[in-house]
Amino acid sequence: MSIQPSRASAASVGQAPGWWRRAVVYQVYIRSFADANGDGVGDIAGIRSRLAYLRDLGVDAIWVNPWYPSPMVDGGYDVADYRAIDPAYGTLDDARLLIREAHDHGLRVLGDIVPNHTSAEHPWFREAVASAPGSPARERYVFRDGRGPGGEEPPNNWPSVFGGPAWTRVASAGGGPAQWYLHLFDPGQPDLNWENGEVRAEFEAILRFWFDLGLDGFRIDVAHGLAKDATLPDLPPDADPSVPEDDHPFWGQDGTHSVYRAWRRIAEAYGADRVFIGEIGPMGPDGQARLARYLRPDELHQAFNFDFLRAPWDAAKLRSVIDATLAPLAEVGAPPTWVLSNHDVTRHATRYGRPYSGLEAWETWVERQPADRALGLRRARAAALLMLALPGAAYVYQGEELGLGEVEDLPEELLQDPTWERSGHEWRGRDGCRVPIPWSGDAPPFGFGPSGCTPWLPQPAGWRGHTVEAQADDRTSMLELYRTALRIRRTHPGLAGEELTWLASPPGTLVFERGAGLRCAVNLSGAAVPLPTARTTLLRSDAGDEDPLPPDAAAWYVGR
Ligand code: NOJ
Repeated sequence: MSIQPSRASAASVGQAPGWWRRAVVYQVYIRSFADANGDGVGDIAGIRSRLAYLRDLGVDAIWVNPWYPSPMVDGGYDVADYRAIDPAYGTLDDARLLIREAHDHGLRVLGDIVPNHTSAEHPWFREAVASAPGSPARERYVFRDGRGPGGEEPPNNWPSVFGGPAWTRVASAGGGPAQWYLHLFDPGQPDLNWENGEVRAEFEAILRFWFDLGLDGFRIDVAHGLAKDATLPDLPPDADPSVPEDDHPFWGQDGTHSVYRAWRRIAEAYGADRVFIGEIGPMGPDGQARLARYLRPDELHQAFNFDFLRAPWDAAKLRSVIDATLAPLAEVGAPPTWVLSNHDVTRHATRYGRPYSGLEAWETWVERQPADRALGLRRARAAALLMLALPGAAYVYQGEELGLGEVEDLPEELLQDPTWERSGHEWRGRDGCRVPIPWSGDAPPFGFGPSGCTPWLPQPAGWRGHTVEAQADDRTSMLELYRTALRIRRTHPGLAGEELTWLASPPGTLVFERGAGLRCAVNLSGAAVPLPTARTTLLRSDAGDEDPLPPDAAAWYVGR
């Protein structure tokens, strides 16, 4: 029996243009969220079984990481078929049901589109490898002859984000010289050529396919990477390959904007409530202004704010990121966004417990100092109140509402992230933030799957105190902090608008006012600071409501 598309049920989430401007979007890393069939891998049926949890948490939407058929060399960001679901996750009918039921729970569903590269197992790439140099099949990707006698050197010096060169040589096909293909990530992720009309048309058709199925929008993977400098120039030897300076040959090239203008027209044809969120950056100095160029009214709706995620726990640095975000985005009429964690970086409850709590680059493997777990958790609680009090949209990564930390002692033989191999075992990679999350019980699998199932990455025994079951109804728990904060955010008129006014406050603290006299105070100094006496406290990240506000705590209150 075929299940009908779920467009009709979109009415249950309401036709609300602009809903995304102040939404809280929950990131579902599907592999690690909930496993219904007990194979140790999360699936769509698992997500469906937890929709009531997400509704009660109080988020507006979910973004589901890639769920397409994939050889999984990079956690599904190597897509072999953009119009199907990987059998480990379910079927297209499961996806239809998920969308329909999510809408019935008042939740919107965003997919994850991966346009920079396909899988090396995608039929297009297989065809390209089997075809001659210069053939239309090769033109869909970035194939070039090598340098040096016999073409044995890569065409240029670009590095792969995962380590090693960004080029791999294929065997000679069709009698021509053996060429190289570009992969900014793993060799299993060949970059597409976005100068190619067929590539553009194919992705537009893919977007329509999923919009027809009922998706409310997409997170766009590597959104600033599609266009490359066609001359493929070498990177200067001292260039930071991860940061797009003005003339960077593969990050932030202007050619990408016309792609998003076309995509925006497609989204608008489905309704003003379909949305694109770009994974862009980090964008280097002047980054937010560069980001704003992607958020002009006829391009993407919003983009992740990686400058906020990367900032250390430092009042001046956070304030400068917040200011640097608000002004340029306001100029293009785009809402700011805020994010503390995702599936690519060390979880912030661990990061904030380190002597240096920022990320120099966005990769998780950069910072490896030991973490003070209790300190990290206190700061993560305060950071949640900071993030959720800011105007605009916020992104919550699954498990941050449970206070999960990074799992740093995964056995080496279980590591799956391609960075582990590509870096010659120098970078352990991102598996530590992708461990299946704990729902209930005293021992693994902690309700992630049916008892007896073995999660694809092992869960720490210490997570027994972090399960949803253990935290529910405990007013001191991280889960209840998030639930309360999200309820206030939804219902308090002070958090409805887009205004923010900084108030004078002691060094090392952040105090700002939103609407209706609602204030947020965050203490990042080493000393307690007084709060106004005539106030009504709405929420504190620390246990009590006594004056003064201790270090690494935050408060929402109304009053002067
Ligand atoms: C960004 C994704 O978030 C990350 O997980 C992936 O490895 C790269 N893009 C490549 O697709």
